[in-house]
Amino acid sequence: MTLLQALQSQGVGSRKQCLALIERGHALVDGVPCLLPKQQVVPEQVCFYFDDEFCIWQDRIVIMMHKPLGYECSAKPQYHPSVLDLLPSIYRARGVQPVGRLDVDTSGLLLLTDDGQLIHQLTHPKRHVPKTYRVTTVDPLDETQIKALWQEIALNDEPKPVKAISVQQENDYELLLVIDEGRYHQVRRMLAAVGNRVDKLVRVQMGALRLPDDLPAGQWRAVEACAIFAI
Ligand code: URA
Repeated sequence: MTLLQALQSQGVGSRKQCLALIERGHALVDGVPCLLPKQQVVPEQVCFYFDDEFCIWQDRIVIMMHKPLGYECSAKPQYHPSVLDLLPSIYRARGVQPVGRLDVDTSGLLLLTDDGQLIHQLTHPKRHVPKTYRVTTVDPLDETQIKALWQEIALNDEPKPVKAISVQQENDYELLLVIDEGRYHQVRRMLAAVGNRVDKLVRVQMGALRLPDDLPAGQWRAVEACAIFAI
C-alpha cells in the first residue's frame, strides 16, 4: 500500500486533499514526515494531522461512549447537539455512527463505529444482542409491576409484544432490565404499560461490554469489537 492509499482509506478527503496533506508534511511514516505519496508503507505505521488533530491510521473505528443526557444520536440532530460532536472530526469524516440509538434523555453506554457490518451484527433483531438498562422509576415499584414486566407486553403500534430477558429489582425505585430488542422508546413504554414511569434511564451494558465506572459522561474510548461479543 502506498502512503497516498493509506491516507485515502482514512476518510481524510479526496485524492487531491490527501496529496496536499502529504505535501504539507502532515503525513508521517514511523514518526517522520514523508513527502512521497507513492512511498510503500505499513499502514499501521502511518500517522497524520487532520484539522490539526494527530491521528493514527486505523483499519476501522469502534468506540464506546458514555452518552451524556441532552445529546441526540443522530448525525442531523433536530433540537440538541449530536453525540458525534463529542468526537474528533476525523471520526465524523470517516462516517462513524452510533450503533442503535439512545433517547436524548437517556445516558449510558453507546457504541459507535464506521464498520457497517458490525452495526448490522449488533442491531439486527435476529442477533438478539442483550442490552441492560438501569431504570429509576417515578413511583415505587410493586410486585404486580415486576411480575408484569416478566410477561409479554403489548405496546401500542407494535405488531408483536415485547418481553424482557431479565428483570432484577434493586430497590423500591430501581431495577435492572435486560431486553434484546430496540423498539422505539421501548423501556419507557414497557414501564408505562405496567403502570409506572421512567424517571431516569441509563444503559449499563451491551452484549458483554459494560459501561466502565471510570468513563465519565461525555467521554469515550476505543474498544475491541470482540469485547462486545465475548462471553
Ligand atoms: N428504551 C428507551 O425507552 N429509551 C432508550 O433510550 C433506550 C431504550
